[in-house]
Amino acid sequence: MSLLFQPLQLQSLQTRNRIVVSPMCQYSSEEGFSTDWHLVHLGTRAVGGAGIVFTEATAVSPEGRISYADLGIWKEEHIAGLARITAFIKGQGAIPAIQLAHAGRKASREVPWDGGAQTDVGGKGWETFAPSAIPFAEGERAPKEMSVADIQKVKADFRSATERAIAAGFQILEIHSAHGYLLHSFCSPVSNERTDEYGGSFENRIRLLVEITKETRALWPAELPLFVRISADDWLPNRPSWTIEDSVKLAKILKSIGVDVIDTSSAGIHPAQQIKVGAGYQLPFAARIKKEVDITTGTVGMITTPEQAETILRMDQADLIFLAREFLRNPYFPYQAAKAVHEHGFKWPNQYARAKQK
Ligand SMILES: Cc1cc2nc3c(=O)[nH]c(=O)nc-3n(C[C@H](O)[C@H](O)[C@H](O)COP(=O)(O)O)c2cc1C
Repeated sequence: MSLLFQPLQLQSLQTRNRIVVSPMCQYSSEEGFSTDWHLVHLGTRAVGGAGIVFTEATAVSPEGRISYADLGIWKEEHIAGLARITAFIKGQGAIPAIQLAHAGRKASREVPWDGGAQTDVGGKGWETFAPSAIPFAEGERAPKEMSVADIQKVKADFRSATERAIAAGFQILEIHSAHGYLLHSFCSPVSNERTDEYGGSFENRIRLLVEITKETRALWPAELPLFVRISADDWLPNRPSWTIEDSVKLAKILKSIGVDVIDTSSAGIHPAQQIKVGAGYQLPFAARIKKEVDITTGTVGMITTPEQAETILRMDQADLIFLAREFLRNPYFPYQAAKAVHEHGFKWPNQYARAKQK
């Protein structure tokens, strides 16, 4: 029996399989509003059979966007468009999930297909915020070192965004603390040189993430699961940085404050990172957290075949398989995976039933 198509119980929810559409920025919004693109893009992957469909990193404030074209959830007017998307996803038997994000010092960029460079304040860009006034890359404008008032504002923004995510009908909420964005940049000593209670020791660096997680958990319905995406390792072996050992420690704390799933990514804090990229290259991080913390984990990164996904589950290295680029190539991956792992009972949408291959 295929494990890839075995349901997973997450609080009151049951996924129809272990296949997750990983969060992927679409750079297709104006003023944070979702568009027909989001409905069709996310809707197609729900039709395609994924168990969980994640929105892209959805900004909790305008200054928390990576680019001016990011999706947002910082005002009430954003809710209606998102609600249409969640209703459609649910109607297809998938679980609608939102990733809440603040881009920190990596905010204020051009969209990738126009080069992705930092945009100017007063032009298309804005002042960026970070634990310390250290730019991400050499030659870039430095972010503002956040005051305690700035930190309080980010916490309030996450709280309001959580309430709007509930109103929009999302059933899974993920806090984005990976890829060098704001919360990861507090955790990692590479980008955090603060001397107050939000910097210095491990406990101080993770404080903002822990505070936001606790506040989110208090607002987010108890019967719905809460995920946190982390960068498990900075891939900077020759300098003080965030490591997998830190991630194991962090995951234990997150588990104790009600996090259901650790979505295990890596990297993004510094351009000098040395990533050993290859099929399933981030899997050892998820496997280690699963084993040492005894928490449900998701793995992501160059997982492209049903057999690879099935093997990860058989080896008990992770519980959820996140796919990003493979889902851009092939929104119907789950149907083809069902055939590959001989899961003949997997239901196709009625409208597509005549196309089902035995
Ligand atoms: C177009 C694109 C946009 C992405 N946007 C996000 C994002 O919004 N949030 C996030 O956590 N990761 C984002 N990622 C990273 C993916 O979720 C995933 O972790 C990464 O691509 C590795 O998985 P893959 O090898 O299956 O593509 C993005 C990746 C791509 C290709």
